[in-house]
Order: sequence, then C-alpha cells, then structure tokens
Amino acid sequence: MKSLCILGSTGSIGASTLDVVRRFPGHFRVRSLTAGSNVKKLAEQAREFHPARVAVADQRKVKELRAQLDGWRGEVLAGDEAIRELAAEQESTYVVSAIVGAAGLLPTLSALKAGKLVGIANKEPLVMAGPLMQAAAEAAGATILPIDSEHSAVFQSARAGNRGELRKVILTCSGGPFRKASQAAMAAATKEVALKHPTWNMGAKITIDSATLMNKALEIVEAHFLFGVSYENIHVWVHPQSIVHALVEFTDGAVVAQLGLPDMRLPIQYALTYPERLDGGLPLLPLERMATLVFEEPDRRRFPSLDFAYGAGRAGGTAPAVMNAANEEAVRLFLDDRVRFTRIFDLVGGALGAHAVRPMDDLETVLDADRWAREEVRRLVRA
Ligand SMILES: NC(=O)c1ccc[n+]([C@@H]2O[C@H](COP(=O)([O-])OP(=O)(O)OC[C@H]3O[C@@H](n4cnc5c(N)ncnc54)[C@H](OP(=O)(O)O)[C@@H]3O)[C@@H](O)[C@H]2O)c1
Repeated sequence: MKSLCILGSTGSIGASTLDVVRRFPGHFRVRSLTAGSNVKKLAEQAREFHPARVAVADQRKVKELRAQLDGWRGEVLAGDEAIRELAAEQESTYVVSAIVGAAGLLPTLSALKAGKLVGIANKEPLVMAGPLMQAAAEAAGATILPIDSEHSAVFQSARAGNRGELRKVILTCSGGPFRKASQAAMAAATKEVALKHPTWNMGAKITIDSATLMNKALEIVEAHFLFGVSYENIHVWVHPQSIVHALVEFTDGAVVAQLGLPDMRLPIQYALTYPERLDGGLPLLPLERMATLVFEEPDRRRFPSLDFAYGAGRAGGTAPAVMNAANEEAVRLFLDDRVRFTRIFDLVGGALGAHAVRPMDDLETVLDADRWAREEVRRLVRA
C-alpha cells in the first residue's frame, strides 16, 4: 500500500488527488497533508482521511488549525520546515507535489533527496531548477512521475517506443479565454475575465498562466527536463477542446497521442497507480467528440510567452528561474489589480532582458535569481 504525503492538499490538484484516493479504498494510506493557509479545508481533509500528521505553512494559522482539529489524534505542525520534514519522512513512500509556484521547490527537493516516488504537478520548481532536481533524484534513487496532463500524456505516449526513439513532443493548450481576442481586448481584460478558463477548472495562478500561455511556456521547459528532448523538438499546438493532451513523434515517423476529458483526476490517478492502470470509475471520453478535433498554430505575436520559454530554455542556467519568478510576481500584481493583463508579458520580457544569466551551480544561485527577478519586476512597476 502506498503511503502518501500530499503537499498542497487544499488546492485544486490536492483535492483531486484526494478524490482519486477515495476511489481506491485499500490502495493508499494518507500519511500527511499540507496547506499554505486554508486551515478549514485542511481540517476537513484530516477528519476524512485520518493522516498521522498535517502541516500549515503559515505559522499564524496553527492555533486556528489546532482549534479546528480539537479532539483529533494526529500531529499538527506549522512552518516551511515542517512541510519539508513531512515531504522527507520515512513513513511516506509517495509524495504528491501540488503546492503552487516556487514555494514548492524546497519541499519537492526534500522528497527527491529522501528517495521517494514523487508525482509532480507543481511545474515551477522543475522550471527553476530542473537539473538540480534531476541530480537529487538520481543521487537518492528517487523517481519523478509527471502529473501535469500534457506531461502525463507525453509519458504515456512515449511508452510506445524506447527512450532513444522519441524525436518530437507536441504539447497542446486550449488557447485560454483570449484565443480569439484582439490585442485591445487583452489589454483591457479584468481578472474576472482572465480567470474564466474555457475548459479546465484550476487554481488562480495557473488559470492566469493559461490565459497568457505562460503555462505552456513553463511546460516547454518542464518537458525538456522530464524527457530530455531538445527545444527545437518541443512544439505547441492550440487545441481548443482540450481532448488530445500531447502527441509524440518517434524516429520512424509514427505519432502517438493520449486523449481524455479535461479532468486532472486521470493523470493524477495514472501517476499514483503507475505502472498499473486501474478502473477508478472516472467519466469516460465520449468518442463522438473526436469528430471535430481542431488544432491551430499559437499566435506568438499576441502571446510572446512561448518565445520567452524557448529563449530562456536555450540560455539555460538561471534564465528559466528568472522567467518563472518574474511571471509569478507579475501574476500576483495582476491579481492584486496593480498591473494590466498584457503588462505581464512586458514584465517577464523585461526581467529576462535585464538578467545576466549565470550557470546553475547550486540551489543558492537559483534562489538568488528568483529573488532578483521578483525585485526587478517590482522595480519595473515602480518606474
Ligand atoms: N489545477 C490544475 O488543474 C493543474 C494542472 C496541472 C498542473 N498544475 C500545477 O499544480 C500546482 C498546484 O496548482 P493548483 O491549481 O492546485 O493550485 P491551487 O489550487 O492554488 O493550490 C495550491 C496549493 O498550494 C498551497 N500553498 C500555496 N502557497 C503555499 C506556500 N507558500 N507554502 C505551502 N503551501 C502553499 C495552497 O494552500 P492553501 O489552500 O492553504 O492556500 C494549496 O494547497 C501548480 O504548480 C500548477 O501549475 C495544476
């Protein structure tokens, strides 16, 4: 039985993971759950899934969490260090990495250094520090399994050939709410509009990233690290129905794809039950929907994010970490109504343009680049 630590259990991926767990009584034991600050939801989950330990990142919330869990027998912890401890403790064999943003880097690294099976939804750490994470996994014998739907689709499709036979990866994206919008409409877009994703129901940050296509930008770098495919062989197609999640091309020219409803529970389930496939009773893809599958080239003029990813990915070193941090900061400012939607592109492009790329020697270099990019974005907004 896999013993799970779910990092970010109160988020969209975390809740979907627990729904998968609910579907397989006897397959998984929930050892620990962690949240950022939503102690009400964390307490509800603790009462339903009976983990031995829970942790909340925000130390100011621990009193409230203890009060919510009055009479509960597990251990209640608080702070970033506690989350890292839960990610690495011996009693859990499988860690689901579902914190949003750079905050997931250190806990995910802890899990990798402890040699766990790690299902990764939290793509930002892979973008920031892919080579360091890979090295940590190799040194400790940890296994990374992709949860992101496109990367799960690549992973599943790639099993049709040998690793050296994989030539090209095509990631799809819905195009988001501004697929057909004018530049002027995008510039005037409110967060309410930008937060309305046409096909997926997700947390706020990734929903904005889907609207700017920064999500796809992050995924290009993520795919490079996970599958070892060169940037010129990673392509993006807009596919508004979100049914084909990714396609791979092999050296003989055969193309294999994975299809499914836009429902994260399937890639989560696959990562949890891998290498087995089990029937979790998830809704099936109505095959009649496949008659009208549409694929388009992304508009790289309105959505410069993809070029940021190819540029930062090829530059390597600290460039992807800067792209990620600048984007996180810009999205935060947009969600706080401090900058317009299209300013996100200027801020990410501005930070990347001003950054002197350094080799990624160690974690401190990555964290320095992350801090520098956030400060640079704030400076650009003040200027
Ligand atoms: N949602 C999707 O469908 C989807 C698909 C593919 C990949 N992903 C990736 O999966 C990750 C999670 O996405 P999501 O949509 O599930 O995000 P979300 O709904 O915003 O949830 C984020 C989780 O991280 C926790 N958290 C936030 N800040 C934290 C901090 N500083 N320290 C510790 N925990 C913190 C949150 O706790 P609180 O609830 O207490 O704030 C919550 O549990 C992202 O990297 C995203 O790109 C998501």
